[in-house]
Amino acid sequence: MIIAIDGPAASGKGTIGKRLAAHYRLRHLDTGLLYRAVGKTVLDAGKKPDDRIAAIAAAQALDLSRFNEAVLKSAEVGEAASYVSAIPEVRAALVDFQRNFAVTPPGAVLDGRDIGTVICPDADVKIFVTASPETRAARRAAEYRAGGKTIDDATVLADIRKRDERDSSRSAAPLKQAADAVLLDTTTMGVEDAVKAAIAIVESKRLR
Ligand code: C5P
Repeated sequence: MIIAIDGPAASGKGTIGKRLAAHYRLRHLDTGLLYRAVGKTVLDAGKKPDDRIAAIAAAQALDLSRFNEAVLKSAEVGEAASYVSAIPEVRAALVDFQRNFAVTPPGAVLDGRDIGTVICPDADVKIFVTASPETRAARRAAEYRAGGKTIDDATVLADIRKRDERDSSRSAAPLKQAADAVLLDTTTMGVEDAVKAAIAIVESKRLR
């Protein structure tokens, strides 16, 4: 089974993806890490994240075997990721890895922005996870604080709005709900309710 989960930053798609993978004993890929790794490589080389040549070279040479999540989950790297991910050649360099991951038995849960629309258009289940920008900013700020970073909700909200706008308006694989995806709005849900709702969506598709 292949489950595609898309949605904006901090909507809860990563947590839901991990939990669904554990529930159904599938593998899980947080595809944002791929773009974050490209963004970090560009930053580490002292280049700007909108430097096309540097970003394409980084994507084509990326070691896809392991990622240091702790390092990649910073706000700065997330911002860089949203620049490099708008470059078509960067996206192209990462497509085969994602598709191979999805089809390797027993199947997988992939979360990102274009899984249901571009990477796995034939996924068995597609869920588009969203939440209000304020809720998403509060969640992300709490994550940063738990990791020892002091950052206020307003700064995170501004960052999230910018990232939403960039991810939705780019021409290469923009963030958008697939026509056959089920919408899951987690604004008023805690983690457990959101996971339950996601499992109910998967079950409703499996029973068809
Ligand atoms: O999901 P996460 O916040 O880690 O993603 C970081 C950035 O990577 C996103 O803002 C988006 O620009 C990009 N991304 C993407 N396509 C994906 C996953 C992430 O363009 N499938």
